[in-house]
Amino acid sequence: MEKEKDMGLRYLMELGIRPARDKKSMYTQLKKQLGQREADRLMEQVWQESDVQRLYDVKNESYEKGITFSGAYDGDIYRKACNWIARNQDVFGETILDVGCDCGIMSCFLAKLLPDSHITAIDRTENAVKVARQLAETLQLHNISFLHADLAALGEQTYDTVFSMRTVHENIANRDIQPSFAPLLEQAQLYGNTVADYGQLLAGKVKAGGTLVSIERGEKNPMFLGWLFDLHENGLALHWQRYAELCCTAVGKQTILQAITAVKKDAEADNVYAFWCSLFPMAADSWLFTGWEGETVLQNLLPQLGSMLSGYQFHTKDGDICGKYAVWKFENRGDAIVYYQGSTEKTTVGIYAASLLPEIQRQIKQLCDTCQKQGLVVRKIMD
Ligand SMILES: C[S@@+](CC[C@H](N)C(=O)[O-])C[C@H]1O[C@@H](n2cnc3c(N)ncnc32)[C@H](O)[C@@H]1O
Repeated sequence: MEKEKDMGLRYLMELGIRPARDKKSMYTQLKKQLGQREADRLMEQVWQESDVQRLYDVKNESYEKGITFSGAYDGDIYRKACNWIARNQDVFGETILDVGCDCGIMSCFLAKLLPDSHITAIDRTENAVKVARQLAETLQLHNISFLHADLAALGEQTYDTVFSMRTVHENIANRDIQPSFAPLLEQAQLYGNTVADYGQLLAGKVKAGGTLVSIERGEKNPMFLGWLFDLHENGLALHWQRYAELCCTAVGKQTILQAITAVKKDAEADNVYAFWCSLFPMAADSWLFTGWEGETVLQNLLPQLGSMLSGYQFHTKDGDICGKYAVWKFENRGDAIVYYQGSTEKTTVGIYAASLLPEIQRQIKQLCDTCQKQGLVVRKIMD
């Protein structure tokens, strides 16, 4: 991107933010800004704090701490997110709600970029809101107001645009979901249920005809698909063409943010699953697939599958399922079979010539023996 168009970078420079290359350079920045004692205290507190709410309070104990820490840690994320927002600014209306604003870096960018809009930025962390207010004062922004509140406690008011970035993972109702090796859509449903209440709350704040903009750290997995279904169930139609994956680094580690926009419509919304499938442009002559692409292929093949020819599930001694192998024949073609191998590390789905069945079954038997030797419990799946 040309430098003059890189609004994200310009904004970071105005705020004096420099994304840190690694934890060491982050520490150096904090030391320079806060002094050694405070930098040591902050690093120690933050890395040891397991309560995420408390962590935000500690990080935002002062303006310098909040902005320096967030800027050094997440600077590249802010830069990419700001640039995506600048490219998609037409989806933002006159009234904007920013849910989970933390120290206000994104909210203030919105206020600067969109002087004719009014931004209401909320956060359930009191210190974060204090730092965010100070940032808006420093930048002399007058089209923004802040509220110390949880989304669940907000009144009935709705907004033209609801923006929320990196908040979903903090609003998961049930974190104990284990891998199930069930068909993809069942897995998506399972994960979607864990954030359904939050999806409903967010969607409830969008005016009819308004837009939700959600930027979340994530990947193309059942959690993401479940989240899309949640939004859809609350009347939000996904704007496919605006979907973007922002590749960022946070203290030297690669991370992906998924940016989605969805419009609140009365009538039939979009087809979420068709959008999901469009994320995996499979070559027509492929026959071996891995990961969530493989799970998608299997999901799409389900209506064509006949009986299961072999199937085993693997369990740990504690009874948790940790893998599955299965082979099916097709209902209406005899020349091919479908093979599924799923474990917590890797999933493979293959479409093979039916003549390979004995060899595949021999390999499955070998894998079962190996797993048993490793102490896993192998159970035959009854079709
Ligand atoms: C990871 S930070 C992200 C901050 C900001 N959106 C960004 O991307 O830089 C999450 C913030 O959202 C706030 N938050 C999470 N869930 C919330 C909720 N239900 N209501 C209000 N604030 C929430 C947390 O207190 C925290 O400050």
